[in-house]
Amino acid sequence: MDASDKVCVITGASSGIGAEAALGLARAGFRVVMVCRDRRRGEVARARITRAVAGAQVDLRIADLSSLRQVRALAGDLNAAHRQIHVLVNNAGGYRTRPEISEDGFERTLAVNHLAHFLLTNLLLPVLRAAKARVITVSSRAHRRANIRRKPLEQIMKSVEAYSWVQAYGDSKLVNLLFSFELARREPDLTAVAMHPGVLATRIWNQNSDWLSFPLRFFKPFMERPAQGGERIVRLATAPEFANTSGKYFDRDREARAAADAYDEQLAAELWTLSEELTGLTSEGQTELGSCSS
Ligand SMILES: NC(=O)c1ccc[n+]([C@@H]2O[C@H](COP(=O)([O-])OP(=O)(O)OC[C@H]3O[C@@H](n4cnc5c(N)ncnc54)[C@H](OP(=O)(O)O)[C@@H]3O)[C@@H](O)[C@H]2O)c1
Repeated sequence: MDASDKVCVITGASSGIGAEAALGLARAGFRVVMVCRDRRRGEVARARITRAVAGAQVDLRIADLSSLRQVRALAGDLNAAHRQIHVLVNNAGGYRTRPEISEDGFERTLAVNHLAHFLLTNLLLPVLRAAKARVITVSSRAHRRANIRRKPLEQIMKSVEAYSWVQAYGDSKLVNLLFSFELARREPDLTAVAMHPGVLATRIWNQNSDWLSFPLRFFKPFMERPAQGGERIVRLATAPEFANTSGKYFDRDREARAAADAYDEQLAAELWTLSEELTGLTSEGQTELGSCSS
């Protein structure tokens, strides 16, 4: 993809894989829009890019993706600023070791890792379609630990009963795949792919405060560097060989087969309808929401 005059939006660009991908996409010539929740951390990540890449065009947008109100405001700003968005990287994410409910009443891991990106992508559809964009959703091999059939999806989205962060994270990463594959089916003009970026030494491992924190500290030096994950995103965003791979899953650099549940089209359709309801897309209408600017 020739990146001159092209716009890329990347969530979770203040740290880890997202920060590295933002740097790589700026090097590739994109105008990069970094979506960060913390202004100071975002400014530090932006300064790193502008120091490294002469003439880099890097915008910073602040949004806490655990809030659907802030996601709507972000989408409104992006729609007002750009007629086309050529690459959207749904990357921000992590897990909470303690159960938490978001301000909108959702289990917080699923709220950030899925609902925010579901809403953002839907609200940006007009400008994504206009660019025949690539939409890259960062999932994880941890999707194989998911068990989203254990109770109704709506309960999983809303409840923290018997909370386990391993379960919540795994569920959210399977949901990322179901979302990405359904997006590919619904939006033939887009290239929607999902990926596992590698096992990388990022801040995601610092969130642990339980029994896993010690072994994680031990293993971190043996993990791949965050830059390797960033490069994988940049390749998916730019390399011509990925132009016709919509609906696929990549494990690091290779196309891979995800867990069977990820290909369940009925489950994906159910998730899509529920996510529309929970994010308010059904009641308010996506075109109307997508063009709001506050
Ligand atoms: N590292 C791995 O081995 C690995 C493996 C598989 C998949 N992944 C996936 O890769 C993605 C990036 O993770 P990472 O490893 O780069 O971790 P990281 O260094 O912790 O980066 C996570 C990014 O997401 C942002 N973020 C988290 N919650 C947010 C919220 N509520 N609103 C807005 N931004 C938020 C963080 O912002 P702050 O800087 O403000 O915290 C940060 O920029 C995640 O989706 C993760 O599931 C990582």
